[in-house]
Amino acid sequence: DHALINLHSILTSLFSNAIKKAYPTLEDIGQPAVSAGSKFADYQCNASMQICKLLKAKGENVSPNAVAKKVVECLGQCDIIEKVDVSGPGFINIWLSRNKLKEILKYILENKLKPKPLTNPQRVIIDFSAPNVAKEMHVGHLRSTIIGDSLSRVFEFIGHDVLRINHIGDWGTQFGMLIALLQDKFPDYKTVSPPIKDLQKFYKQSKVLFDSDPEFKKRAYECVVKLQSMSPDHVQAWKLICDVSREEFQKIYKRLNVSIVERGESFYQSRMENVVKELENKGFLENDDGRKIMWSPESSLPLTIVKSDGGFTYDTSDVAALKQRIEEEKADRIIYVVDSGQSVHFETLKKCAIHCGILDPSKVLMDFVGFGVVLGEDKKKFKTRSGDTVRLASLLDEGVKRARDKLVEKGRDKVLTDEELELAETAIAYGCIKYADLCHNRSHDYLFSFDKMLEDKGNTAVYLLYALTRIRSIINNLGTYTQDLNESISLDHEKEWKLAKTLLRFSEVLSKITEDFCLHHLCEYLYDVATTFNEFYDNCYCIEKNSQTGEIEKVYTGRILLCKITEEYMSTGLTLLGINTVSRM
Ligand code: ARG
Repeated sequence: DHALINLHSILTSLFSNAIKKAYPTLEDIGQPAVSAGSKFADYQCNASMQICKLLKAKGENVSPNAVAKKVVECLGQCDIIEKVDVSGPGFINIWLSRNKLKEILKYILENKLKPKPLTNPQRVIIDFSAPNVAKEMHVGHLRSTIIGDSLSRVFEFIGHDVLRINHIGDWGTQFGMLIALLQDKFPDYKTVSPPIKDLQKFYKQSKVLFDSDPEFKKRAYECVVKLQSMSPDHVQAWKLICDVSREEFQKIYKRLNVSIVERGESFYQSRMENVVKELENKGFLENDDGRKIMWSPESSLPLTIVKSDGGFTYDTSDVAALKQRIEEEKADRIIYVVDSGQSVHFETLKKCAIHCGILDPSKVLMDFVGFGVVLGEDKKKFKTRSGDTVRLASLLDEGVKRARDKLVEKGRDKVLTDEELELAETAIAYGCIKYADLCHNRSHDYLFSFDKMLEDKGNTAVYLLYALTRIRSIINNLGTYTQDLNESISLDHEKEWKLAKTLLRFSEVLSKITEDFCLHHLCEYLYDVATTFNEFYDNCYCIEKNSQTGEIEKVYTGRILLCKITEEYMSTGLTLLGINTVSRM
């Protein structure tokens, strides 16, 4: 599949086979190191020294240079390779075939970057975002939303069958207090919809009562029990409250262009009852001071499956959800995108699920994708000046405002139409927020700074978006000049060749992401593409204009084709990061 051709993995397996053929008695030495970007060749394989060492251990004394030569002799046929030679102490230099790369790029030009359907797509469940009803959706949930959405896009692009699940907290004990307060303040809530738009405030009020008024507290507990036993009035109150939250969450998803299926903790109520019975019958539950807990011999902590008051917990819902995803959704792989603070919870969940037979790790992969906390510019946990959690909606608003200010500062409001300006400011604002999150290693804490993320130099979304509009305008400015797609893509100039090789690392990057879930690989790739493109454009004329009239006199079509291919890779890459692109900004 040309759209997903992975030069690195083709070369790696080619060399791995050659090594096996050259030294059949050598134990499997693993993946030979093949790397791009050496000064002297397109790729290089550096396995010779390692082979030498292994041979020496067996009493064979050969030079790395001789080893390299023998490996090269055993190399199978491969049309992406033009030439191979050995230099220095056994480096194997690889030159790629320009004709073959032209053919691949030509294919992408004609067919776009659309991978062929996979013969064996996996059912991949990605659990992300997952805010809690009535509590604020905070920056931690924003990170999960951004990372989870982008991961989903990558898996979908490759051709897997992805189910995006929003495991929202809609079933906790907080509903007891919320329902009790609803009953007190708006007794006719069943017929007149209550004015509880500001759920946070409502939540705070109920919390105050809960902590100060024992009678209220008692009633709140009763409400939880009634809700969990599905008393119609309580279910209706619960639904009302969830609807308010859902509407708020939905606004954020819409702004960020994120789609996700809501399946909160409440969805699992009957399944929790069943799984608890099952675990009980099979003897996996242990009594601990009235609670029912589950251990695995491997884990340092147990899961709490039933509380002493008979209620279920976060742990219970995750056990039931895992079982549902494996048995009913037929998941091949389940990925949890949750802050690193919950890594122990998911480790324990996995070990216990394996122990009690819900999860067979040889059949279903379960991965935890953690991430660090969001810090403010003062390097402390991201908070408003008054110490409250930052509301996501106002954060997005501020981003849009700052993006507009930047555009106005550059005088763009005088050049762009109102519609273009609006598209540009949202693309920049949401793009920057997403990119700033994704371009760092996700496991590190990350410092939220509008000033930094809105810079138009360096590795930022603004830089990439500008690079893309530049490429698009080169193509669009050709106007009536027809571009003959049959013309050959130009790869003779050193900078053209460098750009082609850089572009074709795309698939290698995606496959890395499916292994370590680190989206910064894709950001680095795009930044590389943009800077390599600029080098190319500065060195290679694409269009010659009359210096007096400004009219186009000559078009280097082979290079324009390269611009178009770059456009395709960049726009696809940005889309995989969940970033909207524009043609003018
Ligand atoms: N609602 C939880 C929180 O805000 C996150 C849920 C993550 N997903 C899960 N299956 N536990 O912390």
